[in-house]
Amino acid sequence: MKLFRRSRGTQWQTLVLWGLATLLAPGAERAMVSSRGAVATVHPLATQAGMKALEQGGNAIDAAVTAALMLGVVDGHNSGLGGGCFILLRTAGGEVVAIDARETAPALATPDMYLLPTPDGKPAVDQRASKTGARAVATPGALAGYALALEQHGKLPLSQAAAPSIHVAEQGFALDAVYARRLDASREELVLFPATKSLLFKEDGRPLQKGDTLRQPDLATTLRAIAQDGVRAYYEGEFATRVGDWMLANGGVLRRGDLAAYQPKLRQAIHSTYRGYEIIGFPPPSSGGVHVAQILNMLEPFPMATLAEADRLHVLAEAMKAAFADRAHWLGDPDFVRVPRGLLNKDYARSLASRITPGGAACTLLQHGTPPQADTDVFGGLRKHTTHLCAADAQGNWVAITQTINTAFGSKVIVPGTGVILNNEMDDFAAAPQVPNAFGLVGSEANAPGPRKRPLSSMSPTLVLKNGQPFLAVGGAGGPTIISQTVQHLVAVLDLKQSMTDALGSPRLHHQWAPDELRMESAFGGPLIDAMKQRGHAVREAGSPGIGVSQGLRRDEANGAWEAAADPRLPQD
Ligand code: DON
Repeated sequence: MKLFRRSRGTQWQTLVLWGLATLLAPGAERAMVSSRGAVATVHPLATQAGMKALEQGGNAIDAAVTAALMLGVVDGHNSGLGGGCFILLRTAGGEVVAIDARETAPALATPDMYLLPTPDGKPAVDQRASKTGARAVATPGALAGYALALEQHGKLPLSQAAAPSIHVAEQGFALDAVYARRLDASREELVLFPATKSLLFKEDGRPLQKGDTLRQPDLATTLRAIAQDGVRAYYEGEFATRVGDWMLANGGVLRRGDLAAYQPKLRQAIHSTYRGYEIIGFPPPSSGGVHVAQILNMLEPFPMATLAEADRLHVLAEAMKAAFADRAHWLGDPDFVRVPRGLLNKDYARSLASRITPGGAACTLLQHGTPPQADTDVFGGLRKHTTHLCAADAQGNWVAITQTINTAFGSKVIVPGTGVILNNEMDDFAAAPQVPNAFGLVGSEANAPGPRKRPLSSMSPTLVLKNGQPFLAVGGAGGPTIISQTVQHLVAVLDLKQSMTDALGSPRLHHQWAPDELRMESAFGGPLIDAMKQRGHAVREAGSPGIGVSQGLRRDEANGAWEAAADPRLPQD
């Protein structure tokens, strides 16, 4: 079943054949291919900037970073210099690199920083502080990640990758429907911060509308300083001073020193297998790679390709439920807590999957499982609103980047003179055990805030190899739904042999254990939704625009042609 039915049958179904079809399909300008490579992002200007980098002799890493920087200008409600990212890449020579440019909590962060004293002594959580304003902001990492990727694996200098972004920040661009809608929805909080207000609102007090030109001279100045002086201009220069001073004056805990101390980290990517394919995912502090692999491991015993659709959806929902129960208990920053590697163990997955019956009823899962050697075999570290983009090139370099400032417009804060929208990634910590965050996610002490700790993420940039060669890159935005989106895209392509375009166009479901509800896109249709209700799932329907936003690339196994696909859920304009 497809979410977006197309009028031309199978011709429409694949977005292969060197760019011809990308002119026709939904999301086409956001997904482009040429003889030099392929790029997929959520915004045509970012995709074009990436393609241009390829034309100018850059490789997929240059294309991805150029596009990522441009997204910070034209899609700033989702990501930008004020946020963080995970970069997963595989070089033409076969090296796999995972760059963790996730934000870190400021040094002054404490586990109880969002708790309020109450008369009866029972702590209550200050729901606002981790989401909006000065105290929501974690130390941004994205720029340091881009610079590291370019330095180690790109061909173009940072100044060249930033040039198109500087141009568009300065000259302006027409707001699309998504930006305008997000702006309108966040307006009450955005106007609280004068620099944010003066950037995004008209003199009569109304937010900019679709089609209005957004010029960002301060952001252009910040970008130009970076192009001239490198990342030091941001982490140790005027940007850091302005941010540190503003935070001090406005009750924040982020300091200039936090920026100066920020370091991206090189992590060991997660390598797992699914029906003979090699799945490469991002390790903690993302939960994405762990749980995409864990859910796939749980699915492996089931004949996903031939199960009746309701049975397949039921198996998916139950597997997601078990993985998210583990996420809530075990996951956190591996530099601070012990995250068991046994979560990836296939026998452990089989034991969790043994209680799933394709034709059976929804089960209530009271608590997490316990993977083997949970205390001793742990991820490296202790042993001593988001967007996804992909790029690939003719040499065989592949890149998947998921980047974010967290929810729409992050903390809503622009420090005057910088033009940079700062993240609210502190909300990805668990403010208190079992207290849900903006995405309804609960966590344990493993994900409590702490000095310089990285908040747990669901971002899941993923690469898939077949016979040792990359053939797919995928990932998404949507908080926890990123994990279930990614799994469903992999099942669609690897099990159901769909094109990437069809995989992204298919209806999605999501279960995150707590709350115990199954979110299903309305596009599944009444009979399937009823079938899931009859099995005992507490279904909550997700209407338009649906669950999450994903982008993907695929290389056709038969003829080697690239397919680039952007999520059809985003409107065309
Ligand atoms: O890292 C995470 O998991 C979240 N900060 C992602 C937020 C997100 O996807 C918002 N997008 N719609």
